[in-house]
Amino acid sequence: MRVLIVGCGYVGLPLGAELVRLGHEVFGVRRSAAGAEELVAAGIKPLVADVSRAEDLAGLPGPFDWVVNTVSSSKGGVEEYREVYLRGTKNLIEWLGTRPPLKFVYTSSTSVYGQVDGSSVKESSPTVPATETGRVLVEVEGLLFAAAREKKLPAVVLRVAGIYGPERGHLFLQYLQDAARMQGKGDRLINMIHREDVVGLIIATLQSGRAGEVYNAVDDEPVTQLTFFRFLAESTGKPMPPVASAEENAARKRGLTQKRVQNRRAKAELGYQFRYPNFRLGYTAELIRLEREGKLNLPEPGD
Ligand SMILES: NC(=O)c1ccc[n+]([C@@H]2O[C@H](COP(=O)([O-])OP(=O)(O)OC[C@H]3O[C@@H](n4cnc5c(N)ncnc54)[C@H](OP(=O)(O)O)[C@@H]3O)[C@@H](O)[C@H]2O)c1
Repeated sequence: MRVLIVGCGYVGLPLGAELVRLGHEVFGVRRSAAGAEELVAAGIKPLVADVSRAEDLAGLPGPFDWVVNTVSSSKGGVEEYREVYLRGTKNLIEWLGTRPPLKFVYTSSTSVYGQVDGSSVKESSPTVPATETGRVLVEVEGLLFAAAREKKLPAVVLRVAGIYGPERGHLFLQYLQDAARMQGKGDRLINMIHREDVVGLIIATLQSGRAGEVYNAVDDEPVTQLTFFRFLAESTGKPMPPVASAEENAARKRGLTQKRVQNRRAKAELGYQFRYPNFRLGYTAELIRLEREGKLNLPEPGD
């Protein structure tokens, strides 16, 4: 297949590398030529375009069989979300409308689920996020579902949980730097997925995802902060993190959700088998990697 990856970052780059390994011809878009060698080294043909500028897309060397949108606003505010996700998606739908690919995959986020009651959340659950950025993503999904219904674009949405893996995983990195804090009793739920499984799920979706459908991209086991930190403390020999102060808790509370995101549909319909079905397996691999690379400074036994 001739594949276009729009946004070749933490997920897009290894996705491209894997697709090249599988024998596909892969093009990767970034906003600037900086870092193009990285793409070339992975066998990806680098392209420069800003998805929020329609004229940039018009210059890309289409048509493509598969298109994946993995651009990210890099934690920007609402305005950046609107530019990168909303305007970017409108531009892509418009541009691809004349020559639609066989499949279009967009990596949305589990932040579209605003549930705060600890309930199990599946793809048919309501998407009523409390945050403005979450609402932008709901709007983006709506554009893609409409495009799929109107047969303009065979779009599929993946709602991706918190991604971890090499150099990523916010709580884990904070914990290693002794900067983590437990919120309250530690009963806050974390939903996550290893980067390798995001890549695997995107490829499974390109191959067999149904147009207009949505799949949660999350591992098997939503976990509380307490269980997560206990696992890290047992694995590393470091102490449990201190409990956050009332002020720290108050600052973090806005827009926080409490939910258990389910992955049954992705496993049943895409036939996907997780490489890291839970955080224990994924983070054990990550700890071993850091240890091997001499990047893990753990206390000696008995310290
Ligand atoms: N990270 C998470 O935990 C998480 C959770 C849920 C969903 N997601 C979603 O997963 C996807 C992949 O995230 P990621 O962590 O791989 O993001 P990332 O590392 O920040 O990479 C984003 C890529 O998009 C490019 N980009 C940004 N703005 C662009 C624009 N206007 N036009 C063209 N390219 C642009 C960036 O390249 P340049 O800066 O060089 O242009 C970069 O290569 C995103 O859709 C994100 O929203 C991520």
